[in-house]
Amino acid sequence: MNNHVPGVFFEPSTRNFRLRTRQAAYVFRVNDSRVLEHLYWGPFLPLEDEEDLSYLSLSSVPGPFDPRGVISVATMMGLNELEDLADENDLRERWKVYTKAKDSAEDRVKSRRLENASWRLWSMERVRGGDLNKDLSEGVMLRALGESQSKDENSMDKGFEVNDDGNNLESLNLDVPRVKERPPSPLLIPGQRIVSKETKSSPKLSPKKSGSAGNYDIVHVDDPTEVTNWQKLDPDVIGKNTQLLEFADQGTGDYRSPSLQVRYEDGSTLSPVYYFRHRILKGKSWMPEFFPNIYLSDPSEATTLVLELHDFVTGLVVELHYTVMHDYNAICRHVVFMNNGDSSVSLQRVMSCTVDFDTDDYYLTQLSGSWARERQVVQTRLLDGITAFQSGRGASSHQHNPFAIISCGAPNEEYGTAFGFSLLYSGNFQFEAEISETGRLRVNLGINPQGFVWNLEPGESFCSPECVLVFSDQGVGGISRELHRLFCEHLIPQRWRNFVPPVLINTWEAVYFNISHEVVVELASKAKEVGIELIVLDDGWFGHRNDTTSSLGDWYPNPEKLPYGLVGLSKEIHAMGLQFGLWFEPEMVSRDSELYSLHPDWCLHIPARGRTVGRNQLVLDLSRAVVRDYIFNQLSNILSSCPIEYVKWDMNRHLTEVFSQDWPASRQGEIAHRYVLGVYELLGRITNAFPHIVFETCSGGGGRFDAGMLYFAPQIWASDNTDAVSRIYIQYGTTLAYPTCCIGSHVSTIPNHQTLRSTSMKTRSLVAMCGTFGYELDPRQLSEDEKGEIAAYIQLYKRLAHLIRNGILYRLWNPFLSSSAAWMFVNNDASQALVFAFNIRREVGRLLPRLLLRGLCYETVYEVEELCPGKLVRNIDTGAIMLDPRGVYQYGENKKLLLSGRTLCCAGLPVKFLFDADSVLFELKGTTSALSSF
Ligand code: DGJ
Repeated sequence: MNNHVPGVFFEPSTRNFRLRTRQAAYVFRVNDSRVLEHLYWGPFLPLEDEEDLSYLSLSSVPGPFDPRGVISVATMMGLNELEDLADENDLRERWKVYTKAKDSAEDRVKSRRLENASWRLWSMERVRGGDLNKDLSEGVMLRALGESQSKDENSMDKGFEVNDDGNNLESLNLDVPRVKERPPSPLLIPGQRIVSKETKSSPKLSPKKSGSAGNYDIVHVDDPTEVTNWQKLDPDVIGKNTQLLEFADQGTGDYRSPSLQVRYEDGSTLSPVYYFRHRILKGKSWMPEFFPNIYLSDPSEATTLVLELHDFVTGLVVELHYTVMHDYNAICRHVVFMNNGDSSVSLQRVMSCTVDFDTDDYYLTQLSGSWARERQVVQTRLLDGITAFQSGRGASSHQHNPFAIISCGAPNEEYGTAFGFSLLYSGNFQFEAEISETGRLRVNLGINPQGFVWNLEPGESFCSPECVLVFSDQGVGGISRELHRLFCEHLIPQRWRNFVPPVLINTWEAVYFNISHEVVVELASKAKEVGIELIVLDDGWFGHRNDTTSSLGDWYPNPEKLPYGLVGLSKEIHAMGLQFGLWFEPEMVSRDSELYSLHPDWCLHIPARGRTVGRNQLVLDLSRAVVRDYIFNQLSNILSSCPIEYVKWDMNRHLTEVFSQDWPASRQGEIAHRYVLGVYELLGRITNAFPHIVFETCSGGGGRFDAGMLYFAPQIWASDNTDAVSRIYIQYGTTLAYPTCCIGSHVSTIPNHQTLRSTSMKTRSLVAMCGTFGYELDPRQLSEDEKGEIAAYIQLYKRLAHLIRNGILYRLWNPFLSSSAAWMFVNNDASQALVFAFNIRREVGRLLPRLLLRGLCYETVYEVEELCPGKLVRNIDTGAIMLDPRGVYQYGENKKLLLSGRTLCCAGLPVKFLFDADSVLFELKGTTSALSSF
């Protein structure tokens, strides 16, 4: 078999699952306890097909203090205690419960027959005095149960067809005939033998479920003399606490942070789940509507493995979904819980992924900060115990981002092994990295369990948010590049691919709430003069809003400020040849608003308690359909009333008093998550209804900058801090996880409104270019010189936008580690590149290292040209600073250099900065000429 074929592969004899991405492999197995044991995540292994990676589990050693023991099928199913029941009828009733073979609505006859059969088998063993723990044949039992539970209707996969071609559809479902028998792995022979079984009559399974299957049973060997080293080291006798697991339950011996926590009606909290069967699908499994997820253009782009784990005692079914993206080093994971039992179960902790790593020297890279200082790069060496970060604010937050990188050894931008995690979720999340006593690492990422309780009634299911796992052997930079490509091609709505948004101007920092028809028209006409293409009417246009105290929820134009309405304004703007954009804050309501006086119960609140305001506003209860429908109608009325090409969707406070009027007490722990699902539904409906409008999401700047939001809108306002120097940090950090094209960035005035810092127009422009590029200043205040500069930068951006937005990003200098920053964008065939370098603080007399470039073709000769040179020059003899209208170039008269890719990457470019917040931009074009020295 060609080892380079990406997909999902299952080897029945070893029970190894191999998930092959473009260049990496992710391998785990079903161990002899039917637990999923993680084996490997790393670079692709050429012999992986022939190798049984189960030997890697030999690195686990029993901890004397770890609970352990053979878990038999009887124990799994909670049958031991049945022995104690004296009354035969009682016994029979309990049996029914345990076997879950009670009358089923779909096929009563069949399920009764199965229940009878299994009862007879079990009673026979009992009467014979057999040891139920050992002799009760697992295969027989599960066959009896398996058939009753293999109802296709249970499947969540209503998307792409099940792949039906041979090996791609192998299942451990014990009734499926074995097509190809492979000798058992030598490693598995001692102690636990795998015995193939030719099934006489294969039950009528749907053709979808047939194919090459691993039909085997595990024979437990009784004779202690046969106990070998293998068995001593078998996970059965090694407690779960030291095993590397794919899914971790709580309360049965694993003391690390679990993947799930449940509570049953009887107060019990255990939920050991065991492998039951799996299916392999072409494409992706189904997800609920409006759930952010990595989408496919064609099923051939991915393969999905769905593993079904059962708690045989309670009927809880856990489906682990793994989608291998063939053209990426990425695996998408999510978990579906189904309550197939008879009583309700509350989910109290739901991790979208758990990944266990063998011992190493691990470092964590996270993006943390605060309002106006979002997504700063924070790197820590992981020490024993749990290192965690989270949001409990109802949004992903300014403080932490649902993204992390784990590096083996200190993180490096270009080298080394790194693992990336990105949760496609915009609400309360939690990331945990736990170094256990063994030195092994467990990573958990999912919904923040704090305050989360999801009530799962019999027959209901719950789907976790999706998480993307990325592997890189090119350090942190490799993770970013993989995510950028994946998000641009499979997350941001397809219609925005290759789109260059119009250069916009936003009224916020220009006039704040002082907007009026005349003011907006005036700003627009001045903006038009310099080449701006769209004007956004930010906050203050609706209700009677003049400050933050009123009108949120009253989405109609303020008649005093806009006497001709939005229709009149939009008309005038368009007549000037500009496009028109509008700001909304749909999730909020002001106490001083008509909406609030009509529906005071529509906000999140607890009736008997006070309502905490933030920025003078309350949060609408988007867990309620009536509220969502109202807001949807308000927004659609406005958006269809006149031509509007852009919408900024803001959210200026986080959640408090998370409680809803529509839901019973037992459901209140669901409200924070239901709120996020409500936002997704609303955003999904609106963006579907107005597909031509560019949506930019925002939350007091970058308080909800996450992959969940990108599923609906192609850009996110990165921060309320528009200062160029602050933005260098914010945007650098943001690129670790998110592509440049989605980073909302504007040129603003000086002194900057957040930091009072003054920086050059050049630096402000170059920083804003590394994002969506717009303006946030009053064009009426611009000098003629400034207007000229702005016009030139807009033209330059228009020329370079495609390369910036679609180029491959290489970060060169890290501002968190030095006093300067640099990055470059390279096109796909490395024939063009742009290099941006920024100075933050100039230490006089101290020189910078040469800037080593990346991503170029070593053999290509590049013409290197400095664009937009500096203007200031220092006279070394007098010390005077002078303006040089001809421009000050890095290499003096040598405006263009001709250098090979190899030289640029190995010897680099010298860069000199003259002052704090100075900047430089080089354009590289591959030429066909060859250097004689080659
Ligand atoms: C916060 C945003 O980040 C700003 O850009 C602006 O839109 C204000 N809200 C308006 O209230």
